[in-house]
Amino acid sequence: YGDRLNSLGRDYSQASERARHAAALARVDAEKLTSGPIVGGRLMAGIAPQDVTNPFDRTQVLGHVSEASPADIDDAAERAAAAQIAWDRKGGAGRAPVLRAMADALEADLDRLVALLSREAGKTLNDGVAEVREAADFCRYYAMLAERDFGGEQPLTGPVGETNALVLHGRGVFACISPWNFPLAIFTGQIAAALAAGNAVLAKPAEQTPLIAAEAVRLYHKAGLNPDLLALVPGRGETVGATLVGHPGVDGVAFTGGTETAWAINRAIANRQGPIIPFIAETGGLNGMFVDTTALREQVIDDVILSAFGSAGQRCSALRVLYVPKDSADGLIEGLKGALAVQVVGDPADPATDIGPVIDAESRQALEAHVARLEREARVVARATLPTGANKGDLFAPTIAEIPTPDFLEREVFGPILHIHRYDPAELKTVASRLAARGYGLTLGVHSRIEAFAEEVMRLVPAGNVYVNRGITGAVVGVQPFGGEGLSGTGPKAGGPNSLIRYASEKAISVNI
Ligand code: SER
Repeated sequence: YGDRLNSLGRDYSQASERARHAAALARVDAEKLTSGPIVGGRLMAGIAPQDVTNPFDRTQVLGHVSEASPADIDDAAERAAAAQIAWDRKGGAGRAPVLRAMADALEADLDRLVALLSREAGKTLNDGVAEVREAADFCRYYAMLAERDFGGEQPLTGPVGETNALVLHGRGVFACISPWNFPLAIFTGQIAAALAAGNAVLAKPAEQTPLIAAEAVRLYHKAGLNPDLLALVPGRGETVGATLVGHPGVDGVAFTGGTETAWAINRAIANRQGPIIPFIAETGGLNGMFVDTTALREQVIDDVILSAFGSAGQRCSALRVLYVPKDSADGLIEGLKGALAVQVVGDPADPATDIGPVIDAESRQALEAHVARLEREARVVARATLPTGANKGDLFAPTIAEIPTPDFLEREVFGPILHIHRYDPAELKTVASRLAARGYGLTLGVHSRIEAFAEEVMRLVPAGNVYVNRGITGAVVGVQPFGGEGLSGTGPKAGGPNSLIRYASEKAISVNI
């Protein structure tokens, strides 16, 4: 898009790159990072201070966070509303340079950000690099959209003697509420979208990942953004989240996270008095992949392992249920067992690691409880080996299980568990419809060399992102606009040509001359 391709990666086969990574980790470990309310560019005292620890080693304290108080939020909202007017008037061309400077700043700080992503969010090296690149891509892509759509008037045809035009402008102040699984990319991307459309932002990061969020906010300010346009308001959903969503100074809410939380926010927005505000939600998925007998086994195995276990399965796009034809199921399942057995589960900061920890003890315990259910009601086929040694933090052994029915899962299970269902190809329609009936619609995979098979699966299972003969995660900004429907979210997609529309208001102007 425009003048620049997607952000470039790093080659960690080079010893010099690995040395930079090790040095960045050592620096992050030596610092004691602070996060808390950042209002007007200043870190405020906040309330209820807490330690932030490493999910792989809970004895490692990375830094501290304090929660935004109601007064911090009021102050931030007032400053944001005042600053937004001039920001909106700048138009897209006036705003784009700040977003591009933010993209450059993210890339310049890549080593440090990757180290922090690994320590605070359990990201492996590859996932960390991909995340910094995605954050930079969002900034550049939305800068391009700002210039395209907020650059003046789109002319409309009308009667002779009258000029008609449509202009887009910002709505005011957006609350951006983001998840821990992409604590940099989604955090930065939501903010970039809201800013690009001419809004100011109050950003609430997930409780688990406030340090990386504070770094991102500092980078935005360093990149030249008026600090009043972006405040960080960390804290719990039931306190800070609830205050933001009900705040009279908030003119729109962008949320990425669980479907249950999206329902709660939607209800809270419905109870507001005054202006009716937009709600943009990206939520979970119950993502399936359908394989037929023409699929290439080795390719299926690679794509399934990456889609189900990459990022420790903690992507909303991750593969949850693999549907394999009963006649070729045994061979494929054997292959998957073999591939799982060689995955390295361990310290995410170690370049050799494939799968790091899950985000916290609550998540680990919920996943273990789910495995217990699979042991009772389904069949656990394989579990990866955890490293020996005392410290395992919140490592969870990735698991493959066979499920007896196509809709055994009622809802998303967020972690590295692959469910497999053997289906009779004559029953494809019933099997796919039972998955569809669960109501999600995020990602969908198909592995087949028969076009008609892929088309039928696509017709039967709703999904915002369909991937044929490849993995189903890792949407690239501008290449695979990302987002779902139904229980998976409202749209518009992130990283696509229509991403900014719901962050904006439209005005039609008719002038009779
Ligand atoms: N956008 C990510 C992906 O495509 C998920 O959030 O994997």
